[in-house]
Amino acid sequence: MTQTQGFATRAIHLGHDPMEHQGALTPPLHLTSTFAFDTAEAGGEIFAGTRAGHVYSRISNPTLDLLEQRVASLEGAEAGLALASGMGAITSVLWTLLAPGDEVIVDKTLYGCTFAFMHHGLRKFGITITHIDLTDPENLAAAMNARTRIVYFETPANPNMRLVDIAAVAAIAHQGGAQVVVDNTYATPYLTRPIALGADLVVHSATKYLGGHGDLVAGIVVGRAEAIQEIRLVGMKDMTGAVMAPFNAMLVMRGLKTLALRMDRHCASAQIVAEWLEGHPQVASVQFPGLASFSQHELAKQQMAQPGAMIAFELKGGLAAGQQMMNNLRMIARAVSLGDAETLIQHPASMTHSTYTPEERAAHGIGDGLIRLSVGLEDVADILDDLDDALGALPAARSA
Ligand SMILES: Cc1ncc(COP(=O)(O)O)c(C=O)c1O
Repeated sequence: MTQTQGFATRAIHLGHDPMEHQGALTPPLHLTSTFAFDTAEAGGEIFAGTRAGHVYSRISNPTLDLLEQRVASLEGAEAGLALASGMGAITSVLWTLLAPGDEVIVDKTLYGCTFAFMHHGLRKFGITITHIDLTDPENLAAAMNARTRIVYFETPANPNMRLVDIAAVAAIAHQGGAQVVVDNTYATPYLTRPIALGADLVVHSATKYLGGHGDLVAGIVVGRAEAIQEIRLVGMKDMTGAVMAPFNAMLVMRGLKTLALRMDRHCASAQIVAEWLEGHPQVASVQFPGLASFSQHELAKQQMAQPGAMIAFELKGGLAAGQQMMNNLRMIARAVSLGDAETLIQHPASMTHSTYTPEERAAHGIGDGLIRLSVGLEDVADILDDLDDALGALPAARSA
């Protein structure tokens, strides 16, 4: 298996030869906490890192190892590390790289728990969090200083779909000696490969598209081998202990086998739904990278193979109409998370982003009336039907 093979082929085959496992097509699930050493000396050498091998499943496990290789390959990275959750990945990375006195520069918008970790976690330990508008990379040039260690952002950002030009931001960050960490959960490596654009580390909530079926919580980070090893041995092993369970690694690997297929379908349906919503009389605005009206449509075409399947929109009737519409839905589930086969809808201000105060949400561009839709894999006609009925049952919108 080589890096020259296609994305889907590597997602299915990489790193596993059935003939080395009694012909088993599916890689073995290593349900073990610890690993026996051949001799006392061999154990010492594995601990010292001078001999290859596993010690204990809070450090590494062969099932996780295969998943790590696969995601690293799909992201075009040297190495990967599987963690218990997306937040486990993000916290393990940042605890490893930061020390008191350091600064992290972040975009204005972040997923609610990442925002909370930075503001309520890192800040307590003397780390400065500086929000800037990274949609204009020049803002970074002005903000960088000797204490800036990390530039961190999501693209597209959860929940308002802001995009960040990864190559432009990475060039400026590196000039100032900072590392770039990108949360690629929304795009997945099928749509965007931040490492090729200059990012140092890529984090994922594998709970979402990588797993793809809403049946697990998991996280991944990929990057250079040396950095990943440090995050494994410092951030994950000693600081967070946020190791992924081997069974979840099996489920994520099963999800990866259909990632390309699923993303094609997710993206095609989302384009149809976004265009439909934009033309609906009850809808005030739609944020979706695939719309010509999207303010960063050109960047989306440049940086994303397809526009993804997350949509943010507001109704003319604001929050009250949004809640009423959500309550009217029959098939689409009122639920947080995203990237599942089921279409999911939620209200960021009262749900995923309620970790921000109302003042912070206003300052960070998360409108109270914003609705977030994760377009699933159902027949798109049924998704549209459900939305049409739910919007149609609202009192007529006043013309804008
Ligand atoms: C963009 C983004 N990053 C990180 C996370 C955290 O991932 P997890 O829930 O797997 O801890 C989420 C969860 O919703 C997310 O949307």
